[in-house]
Amino acid sequence: MPPAYEITEHTYDVVVVGAGGAGLRAALGTTMAGLSTACISKVFPTRSHTVSAQGGISAALGNMGEDDWRWHMYDTVKGSDWLGDQDAIEFMCRNAIPAVIELEHFGVPFSRTEKGQIYQRPFGGHMMEYGEGDPAKRACAAADRTGHAILHALYQQSLRHQAEFFVEYFALDLLFDEEGSCCGVMAWNLEDGSIHRFRAHIVIMATGGYGRTYFSCTSAHTCTGDGNAMVLRAGLPLQDMEFIQFHPTGIYGAGCLITEGARGEGGYLTNSEGERFMDRYAPHAKDLASRDVVSRAMTIEIREGRGCGPKKDLIYLHLEHIDPKILALRLPGISETAKIFSGVDVTREPIPVLPTVHYNMGGIPANHHGEALRPTEKDPDAVCPGLMAIGEGACVSVHGANRLGCNSLLDLVVFGRAAAHRAAELVRPRMAHKPLPASAGEAALSRLDRVRHSEGPLKTSEIRIEMQRVMQSNCAVFRNAEVLSEGVARIEQVAESYADIGIADRSMIWNSDLVEALELDNLLAQAVTALHSANNRKESRGAHAREDYPERDDEHWLKHTLSSLSDDGKVTIAYRPVHLHTLSNDVQSFPPKARVY
Ligand code: FUM
Repeated sequence: MPPAYEITEHTYDVVVVGAGGAGLRAALGTTMAGLSTACISKVFPTRSHTVSAQGGISAALGNMGEDDWRWHMYDTVKGSDWLGDQDAIEFMCRNAIPAVIELEHFGVPFSRTEKGQIYQRPFGGHMMEYGEGDPAKRACAAADRTGHAILHALYQQSLRHQAEFFVEYFALDLLFDEEGSCCGVMAWNLEDGSIHRFRAHIVIMATGGYGRTYFSCTSAHTCTGDGNAMVLRAGLPLQDMEFIQFHPTGIYGAGCLITEGARGEGGYLTNSEGERFMDRYAPHAKDLASRDVVSRAMTIEIREGRGCGPKKDLIYLHLEHIDPKILALRLPGISETAKIFSGVDVTREPIPVLPTVHYNMGGIPANHHGEALRPTEKDPDAVCPGLMAIGEGACVSVHGANRLGCNSLLDLVVFGRAAAHRAAELVRPRMAHKPLPASAGEAALSRLDRVRHSEGPLKTSEIRIEMQRVMQSNCAVFRNAEVLSEGVARIEQVAESYADIGIADRSMIWNSDLVEALELDNLLAQAVTALHSANNRKESRGAHAREDYPERDDEHWLKHTLSSLSDDGKVTIAYRPVHLHTLSNDVQSFPPKARVY
């Protein structure tokens, strides 16, 4: 017998799950195209994690020096350690320029040059002349609060175009029809406890990453990758889950982000000997090398006894040599964060920092139109009808094995827009819906009910901290077979312990106990697939640095990992080829070569 919950029905052309930058850009685009659109979000839209993006959005505008979208494309391919799909990267870098201009027209208050153009700063891994020239000024910035500025403008535009918001609705699971097409989503209204079934021709997942599988991360507590877990429960695979980005400059202890824009404005790192050690690891790009390179260098310095601070377990980020007026103008947010979380006055002393989990390159496999994939051996690019995925939750894959800074805000708006265009090609406004299967939503409600009435001895917080400890120690910057296989065994044990969860609050209204338990279930599914995928990939590439396989191995591993999770918690691994072709003849593809900065 399915649990008895009264269900409120809704019917839309499109449902967008998530109201960060990607979700809002998609919802805006579909409403502009005349499609009825519901946007469901577990938080108020302007509290989505995009709000915390700091340093900028990349686009080769060339406002402050020569630039070219092809250089941007090359840097992104190289940054991805050749795991990124080059057709999608071409699409993103080329469309970056109109996307940023569009944001300007939507009202994003970008910082300005003296001439009144959008201000641009250098960022890690972004160079001129196909990597041979100086750092490119490509990060379009609104001081160090660029995500905040973009998110607010997109929300205002979405309201203007009458997107319908279902705020503080927690999405439970996807609905599929008998042919395997996605046809809606079940959701729980946290405010009044009611259950909702949203039918749609297209569901666009814009549900973000799973940073909270780790203890120390720059991600908000809401970054639990709910959409990724829904996709796994629907029997679809996730892609490249082993690639987890550590941002070099998280505040020591707190993990909060200090933007790479700080180094873009002239900041630099030192070890306990006062040495600017990045000169040794990346002689050309130095402190502006790609994030994986800088994070590894910092970790090596600490391991080799050259860490700073009383415990020699941190690195210093110096900004005190920069004109205080520039700090106040260009980096006001991180100046305040540094004061609050480390007590540092950035005009006088260095900030203690450490690499901290920041971004998930992996997620729901998708193409450059935003369509989610259900790869088969015969057709690795087969789409899953009715389902789209954009933003950090998606793996297009434009970031491959390592994302360049500022390419995330870009990915959100470029693929949010592309998904809306694709939806408008596939769906006619108010087109009739097929009847839903009789059992649609039952599994979602059974899961909700099971967790709601769980009476086991373990609290959500106890299981969560165990998961975070395992991820922190067994899926870190450097990895090897011993650590990873131990990690797989430990994380499976933690995932099994979820059967012993017990929650105290059985109500349906503002039940944060239940929300956190459901989020933990989602996180565990991703932690398990990430660790299995990392253990499986026997090479080093981008953010996946294996001490036992220190080299990139294109012969065997130039391929995407697909990881699926069965109902009884077993992970299956398969692969998809990387797209090494371009979309147009305006640029040549970039064959793999050694990656040095
Ligand atoms: O460092 C930063 O401001 C982060 C930007 C990004 O992850 O794109």
